[in-house]
Amino acid sequence: MPLTFFAQSKAPCPPPPASRPAPVKLTAEQDRARMLELLGLREDQMRRPPATDPKSPNAANYDEAKANVYPNLPDALKMKNGQSVTTADRWWKQRRPEIVADYEREILGRAPENLPQVTWEVVSEKPENWRGIDVITKRLVGHVDNSSYPQITVNIDLILYTPAHSGGPVPVLMEMAFARDWERALARPFVVPPPPGTPGHWGVDGYEALKRGWGFAVLNPVSFQSDDGDGLTQGIIGLMNKGQPRGLNDWGTLRAWAWGASRALDYLGSDAAVNAKEVGLVGHSRFGKAVLVTMAYDPRFAIAYSSSSGEGGAKLYRHIYGEQMSNLASASLYHWFCGNFLRYGGPLTPADLPVDNHELIALSAPRPVFIGGGSNDGDGYAIQGGDAWADPKGMFLAEVAATPVYKLLGGNGLGTAEFPAVGTTIANGDLAWRQHQFGHTPAPNWPAFLDFAAKYLHTPAGEKVLAQAQ
Ligand code: GCU
Repeated sequence: MPLTFFAQSKAPCPPPPASRPAPVKLTAEQDRARMLELLGLREDQMRRPPATDPKSPNAANYDEAKANVYPNLPDALKMKNGQSVTTADRWWKQRRPEIVADYEREILGRAPENLPQVTWEVVSEKPENWRGIDVITKRLVGHVDNSSYPQITVNIDLILYTPAHSGGPVPVLMEMAFARDWERALARPFVVPPPPGTPGHWGVDGYEALKRGWGFAVLNPVSFQSDDGDGLTQGIIGLMNKGQPRGLNDWGTLRAWAWGASRALDYLGSDAAVNAKEVGLVGHSRFGKAVLVTMAYDPRFAIAYSSSSGEGGAKLYRHIYGEQMSNLASASLYHWFCGNFLRYGGPLTPADLPVDNHELIALSAPRPVFIGGGSNDGDGYAIQGGDAWADPKGMFLAEVAATPVYKLLGGNGLGTAEFPAVGTTIANGDLAWRQHQFGHTPAPNWPAFLDFAAKYLHTPAGEKVLAQAQ
């Protein structure tokens, strides 16, 4: 057998697993320095990132009058060859792939083609009661096939809550959770969520989704790709690179998190309690960025709430307010992106980008997306100082500029170009907007998102959950 096998195989035969080298260990600083070297860049060519503290001599800009440094946004509906995109067909077949290719080359990196199978295991399934609502709680683990490099084990952690007395398969909102929210989701008895409208993470506020007769799921993204540069030779990225560091075009952590969210959706599609055609994705801050990336790559997600995603998320890179590309190119955050992205923290500026984040939002079109943030003077480092790092206005402007794509595809986008007062919900179209009056938290906008989602998600007839809720 081996002879015929080797004769037919074009690829060199892999060495037996035992002789493969162990994963390389690099700190984020070492790995970033390696990337800069691959790019032919020296550290002294990198810009000094602006500071969050408005009193710093190197403070980020917090003056709206000075934010519009690069007024020319790329036109989402113009091909690179200058032709206008006037039909949905041309958007799907030509323009959208152009935008995706630009994002992959400059920002997100490319996911490998031969991504492994994931086998889902129901670790436990229990009837529970959540403040009066009977739910079925399933603890799930997705085992990633690591036969290509057994030195790295990768698992995807997921919890699913569905109403126990539903009239049929239910819509589900899936949260990409921070570690503390994941811990809260694991806690028993259930943590009582803060009253709606108060600051805090939504954590297990999925109760509000259950009250509407929907399910709620909590995904733990760092279970399959850790949130640091040190972890890039581990997790799904490390597994695909067989423990070696990334090349300049390889995917970053945001794209890897999006891959895992899609695998979680595969599971939801196999669960009879779930209506997999009505699964929404929610995430805050770095996970608000990951939500938009996931929506761009997986058309099966029906709706999204991207909260305070800021720079690298919904905010326009060209809106120079709060956090900047040079901040994202730092050793603590560069891992979210591909190696090529580092150039934008050095010799290149946002004006050199072939895309901007109105186009990231447009990659969700025509599906509904709710984008939220905190107050102008609170979102970002509210706890540390009260500046507006996440740039709510920059996110709003991106939604305005994404609107023509929604319209081309038969939707109606945001419906206004006027930046509203804090606390105003704009949700008449398929793009929605709200700024709450607190800081860097998704919870106060959660009720407005749920109302928006209710226009698209259908509670099965015969649902008894509402009667039970307290
Ligand atoms: C940092 C980072 C932001 C990010 C935030 C978060 O503050 O600079 O871009 O959104 O972390 O994820 O909380």
